[in-house]
Amino acid sequence: MGIQSWVLRENSATSLYDCRDDQAAELLGKVDGASEMNWEMLQSVVQKCERCALHASRNQTVFGSGNRSASWMLIGEAPGKEEDLQGRPFVGRAGRLLTEMLLAVGLSRETVFIANILKCRPPENRDPAPEEVESCKSYLERQIELVQPEIILAVGRVAAQNLLATSQPLSELRGKIHHYGGTKIPVVVVYHPAYLLRSLTEKQKAWDDLQLALNVRE
Ligand code: URA
Repeated sequence: MGIQSWVLRENSATSLYDCRDDQAAELLGKVDGASEMNWEMLQSVVQKCERCALHASRNQTVFGSGNRSASWMLIGEAPGKEEDLQGRPFVGRAGRLLTEMLLAVGLSRETVFIANILKCRPPENRDPAPEEVESCKSYLERQIELVQPEIILAVGRVAAQNLLATSQPLSELRGKIHHYGGTKIPVVVVYHPAYLLRSLTEKQKAWDDLQLALNVRE
């Protein structure tokens, strides 16, 4: 998942930064991507997004939340039922465990930025389809560019495989330091808290994942 460069084809405003939020949807049809968008515009465009079929079944988009200048950026798979209702990532049962995991290593949710591969909930929480990931890709790429994190935690298999553009299983991706796209941003793969809720015996491994991430930052 490399950083894609987006080209402005025609634009009545002098730059995307000059646009009002209500111009965002119109502009989206005129640009190949979001690489010039600031946070407000990106959020507005995501809110109105109809790039894939998931827009029809969502209650709302889940843009991401937290510190927009965070050192740690956590990226999960996609909103679930609770997230789709509340409009915030990781607020269900798995999210509460994620919050506890962060606290265990001295991080509050407010200090990190949390986003997902998809901004809309797939029905029945099925895995994201490739075309849905592709439609949403540039939003996450721009979020990463804007946050400029010192480290990315890929939360679970789907996030890890998409961020690292690989089909390797989670077992082979954990325990190593990867890098995001063509950048120097380290990526550490951690177990998804939903999996940990089902397999409490793996909690030690989840702790190991977080220790690896902490060590990268030292
Ligand atoms: N699982 C995810 O991967 N992301 C969320 O936001 C919630 C659950």
